[in-house]
Amino acid sequence: MQLWEDVDEYLCTRLIGRDAIMDRVLSASREAGLPEINVAPNQGKLLMLLAQAIGATRILEFGTLGGFSTIWLARALPASGRLVTLEVNPAFAEVARRNLQAAGVAERVQVRVGPAMDTLKAMEAEPFEPFDLVFIDADKVSTCAYYQWSVPRVRPGGIIIVDNVVREGELINLQSADPGAGAMRDFFEFVQKDPRVDASALQTVGSKGHDGFALLRVR
Ligand code: DHB
Ligand code: MG
Repeated sequence: MQLWEDVDEYLCTRLIGRDAIMDRVLSASREAGLPEINVAPNQGKLLMLLAQAIGATRILEFGTLGGFSTIWLARALPASGRLVTLEVNPAFAEVARRNLQAAGVAERVQVRVGPAMDTLKAMEAEPFEPFDLVFIDADKVSTCAYYQWSVPRVRPGGIIIVDNVVREGELINLQSADPGAGAMRDFFEFVQKDPRVDASALQTVGSKGHDGFALLRVR
């Protein structure tokens, strides 16, 4: 919808303004042939604000892509803060590393390449502090698995944000051909019975079409 795009354009102009670094990040990602499925700028800034609001110093991201949301999240961190981002595609990870460098946040961010479940296994063998914030935005069919891994590893009061939970409404279409839609239903049905979190979700329209995100707070 043109109107959704125009309203996003209005909001981004008023609330974000020109961001030469992010412009370069997006054009570098486009030139490298990455799919343009990064979060919208206003979603990215919302991620940063949420991270700042809870004073996050430890962040985990599933799905780096070109590092656009990664950079927004990293901007919320103090110099001593750390973000780990997981990416299955080595070519995407390479683009992200260059983008993180260009954005001046590379020191705070570790890009780990490989299937996330393998990387998580490796991380379990290393000592690490609980996360303040987890952003799940990777292969949609693994969403519930990533969520289940994350909950016990987020500190009480920490948050988990899950992208793409509405999928143009396919979420509630039981006949949907989109495997991601069924995956999101599995996720919500799990959360419904999960006493460890308080959760809400919003559907969104904008420059990225009709979708939505879930926000969960660990008790
Ligand atoms: C897709 C993935 C995303 O994370 C997103 O925000 C939009 C689309 C996709 O795989 O199509
Ligand atoms: Mg997404």
